[in-house]
Amino acid sequence: MQTTEHISDVRTAVRNARQSGNRIGCVPTMGALHAGHMSLVEECRQRAEFVCVTIFVNPTQFAPTEDLAKYPRPIEADLQKCRDAGVDLVFMPVVPSLYPDGYQTWVTVDEVTQPLEGTHRPSHFRGVTTVVAKLLNILQPDVACFGMKDYQQLAVIRRMVTDLDMPVDIIACATVREPDGLALSSRNMYLSAEERTAGLSLSQSLFVVRDALRDGATDIAALELQMKTHMQQANVEVQYAVIVDPHTLLPISAPQQHMVALIAAKVGATRLIDNVEIFLD
Ligand code: PAF
Repeated sequence: MQTTEHISDVRTAVRNARQSGNRIGCVPTMGALHAGHMSLVEECRQRAEFVCVTIFVNPTQFAPTEDLAKYPRPIEADLQKCRDAGVDLVFMPVVPSLYPDGYQTWVTVDEVTQPLEGTHRPSHFRGVTTVVAKLLNILQPDVACFGMKDYQQLAVIRRMVTDLDMPVDIIACATVREPDGLALSSRNMYLSAEERTAGLSLSQSLFVVRDALRDGATDIAALELQMKTHMQQANVEVQYAVIVDPHTLLPISAPQQHMVALIAAKVGATRLIDNVEIFLD
């Protein structure tokens, strides 16, 4: 496995791999890799012969009040996981490589960035789309894999790739959960045992409304309130708990064939997000 901080090395490695007839796959990450990330790598392996994982804690997607400085960076453990998973290349640029002095170009997606995460983290998606656009430009992959846990991020990236005619297939990979339902997240490591138990109220709420909708429930507002109440009873500070259209992420007034329920909540000092897609027959 090759590791590099340098854009020029990545370009050379990718060019060589492509000349050898390989498809290029990319899994962008911020490191602190867990089984969720490794499932993206696995999916990528199925679709490309040459797999590159990027590890970059992207400062532009963190607000000044957020956890950039304390974001976990277990680089040796991450590299070992990549080695074990058969990754071909790990690109781990330093901040000035991607954002040199004088940097002033941003990629923004207008509408799908506005609700939900956009309300609570107004500058977040501009950072995400900019860094993902840069990584896709550097790597020029055939496929790039993203987790459905960051449901809105996936919708935003899909929009960007479509709107900018980027020649890459975006692959959505299912959320990986602990046996008790907690969605895997690099931020779970901040949770105390008590907070972890409280954090289970996110997935529990989502599963309850998913099942209710499948069983014929029709009152969207009541189901949203049910999610909020369940989390509040677990001492979780709810930021949003909604059932929305899966493409626009805008509110719906009645159940439709395809919906998504999304939650963001603070468990102690840790902000968690989770979601489930809901399909009616
Ligand atoms: O999902 C993440 O880990 C990040 O938002 C991403 C896509 C790697 C961009 O920094």
